[in-house]
Amino acid sequence: MPIPKILVLPGSTRAGSHNVKLAALAAKELTLLDVDVTRISLTDYPLPIYEADFDAREGPPANAVKLKQMIMAHHGVFIASPEYSASVTPMLKNAIDWVSRVRERGDPTYAAFKGRVFAISSASPGRAGGLRSLMALRQILELGCGALVIPEQVAIQRADYAFDEMDNIADTGTANLFRAQLERLVEMARLMVRGG
Ligand SMILES: Cc1cc2nc3c(=O)[nH]c(=O)nc-3n(C[C@H](O)[C@H](O)[C@H](O)COP(=O)(O)O)c2cc1C
Repeated sequence: MPIPKILVLPGSTRAGSHNVKLAALAAKELTLLDVDVTRISLTDYPLPIYEADFDAREGPPANAVKLKQMIMAHHGVFIASPEYSASVTPMLKNAIDWVSRVRERGDPTYAAFKGRVFAISSASPGRAGGLRSLMALRQILELGCGALVIPEQVAIQRADYAFDEMDNIADTGTANLFRAQLERLVEMARLMVRGG
């Protein structure tokens, strides 16, 4: 049976980012689950702020098409989402907005968000662990883009202290929840492989 391909994407590009760390941990754990893992950074897909007149005039930039194709080459997508002002980062939202506008020949609307499964988690130095960014991201992906997002999610609170010296999640209960989320993502991605 073909091996599911999982894309791992942090919503931050900051040096020392907790969510880049969480994404790296997800990639490490996913590799142990016998899937093909690709980890990317939005620094490799610089995009202007979405502007409808620009889109109407010139269409989505090459990096939006490249990112859309990268997502479409995978059966599952894990997003590590930082929280800014009780929502997602502008960089992540902008990337999703642009990708949602890309329509290549024969594509249905929101092609990048269909036929694959998404999982979302967050890390924040705050006490809520970025939970509100997950609520916003779930709304954007599910209601905005028609994506399937698994219910399992983890919000890593007090992120400055939450990782040990090996960059694993220090708290055993939280680490187990995170692993269970990734297992569920893989289980669902396997169904996507069979379906398509
Ligand atoms: C503009 C801005 C708004 C923020 N708003 C929140 C917030 O609403 N809730 C929260 O927990 N942290 C908030 N933070 C703190 C971020 O969670 C923190 O900077 C975190 O480290 C960002 O994620 P990263 O480490 O992956 O870059 C905010 C930070 C910035 C720069």
